[in-house]
Amino acid sequence: MLTLEDLPLEDKTVFLRVDLNTPLEPNNGKLLELNRIQEASVTIRDLSKSKVVVGSHQGRVGRSDYVPLNQHAEALSKMLGKEVKFPEDIFGPTAIKEIDSLKRGEVLLLDNLRFTAEENMEFSPEEASKTILVQKLYKHFDACVLDAFPTAHRAHPSIVGFSYLLPTCAGRIVSKELKALNRIMTVEKAPFTTVLGGAKVSDRLEAIDTLIANKRADKVLLCGLIANVFLKAAGKIEYDIGVDKEEKAVEKATRLMTEFPDTFELPTDVAVMRSGERKEIPVSELRNGEKVMDIGSKTIDHYSRIIRSSGTIFMSGPPGYFEDERFGLGTESLLRAMASSFGTTIVSGGHLSAALQRFGIKEWIDHVSTAGGALVLFLGGRRLPLIEALEQSENKIRNSKNE
Ligand code: 3PG
Repeated sequence: MLTLEDLPLEDKTVFLRVDLNTPLEPNNGKLLELNRIQEASVTIRDLSKSKVVVGSHQGRVGRSDYVPLNQHAEALSKMLGKEVKFPEDIFGPTAIKEIDSLKRGEVLLLDNLRFTAEENMEFSPEEASKTILVQKLYKHFDACVLDAFPTAHRAHPSIVGFSYLLPTCAGRIVSKELKALNRIMTVEKAPFTTVLGGAKVSDRLEAIDTLIANKRADKVLLCGLIANVFLKAAGKIEYDIGVDKEEKAVEKATRLMTEFPDTFELPTDVAVMRSGERKEIPVSELRNGEKVMDIGSKTIDHYSRIIRSSGTIFMSGPPGYFEDERFGLGTESLLRAMASSFGTTIVSGGHLSAALQRFGIKEWIDHVSTAGGALVLFLGGRRLPLIEALEQSENKIRNSKNE
């Protein structure tokens, strides 16, 4: 695929799709960490001779993290040491006027692209190119740079639509991630262990099949909300666990455990909050409706042993609510087991990247990616829309040069 050096971007207006989607502090809605914004600023700096229009999404419709990007604009502006324009609308008269009057070196951030309905739907590249978002804006751009590696699995208009119509290349994050992952994949060794945690249950369930089918998960160590789905499927939890389309998710977990009986490891003990304290209990002692906050010490020991005897270990999504010190033990212990293992280690997602930083062990992990769900699918061997868009753009440009 093409990179920033392969397209004539000087003095041009460039649409740069990054992923600034950041977890928010539950109590005050502030950005929890700035990793993705920091990474995006590298590509923006390298485009300092262009006029840069940055696009990103934040959160999902209906969730508490579905917020405007004003905090992101402020953080980016501080990192770049210059103003980041932040128009009121996304493709209305104000945004278009500001885009058209950008000067070389100036940067503008569009607001949360998911505020437009179409950016919440998947399309073929051709269909995406006909959406209102793309049609209103693409004529104001000369080129597109795709750098949203964590969103590489979403065929949304800003990922596959602009790139269908404009000369498109990869930004620094996509180049860096693919280079590191390709290097790792050439030295990866069995057995493969995948540690799955976090809250995005449907994404994880979708990815497990792919990971197992492509021999990237000899063992799957389950933590977080997805562990509860499997515990429910195994008849060890009987109450509602608050997962979207819970019945379907539990059905899928049942099928997976029947099809691959030796693959899944489930927590035997968990940590819950009782009287404001961390309390570890066997899974069988969970009270009706009680929220699981972390895995327990016996599970930690068992999982750590498996991690240490694995050839390649991949962790996506935190094992517990590590933001609260009382429930950080599972996340810290499993990350430390990875850091001290002789296997190849890959850690994915913004939360875990923040956790590694907090525990001071980031440099002991072979590859830390800001991507979550996209990386799980990539490692499972799935073709990702963003990567296909980059490949197609390269083919188009090379073919037109040969004509
Ligand atoms: C992520 O954090 O995994 C990406 O930003 C994609 O977000 P999504 O799962 O809401 O599409």
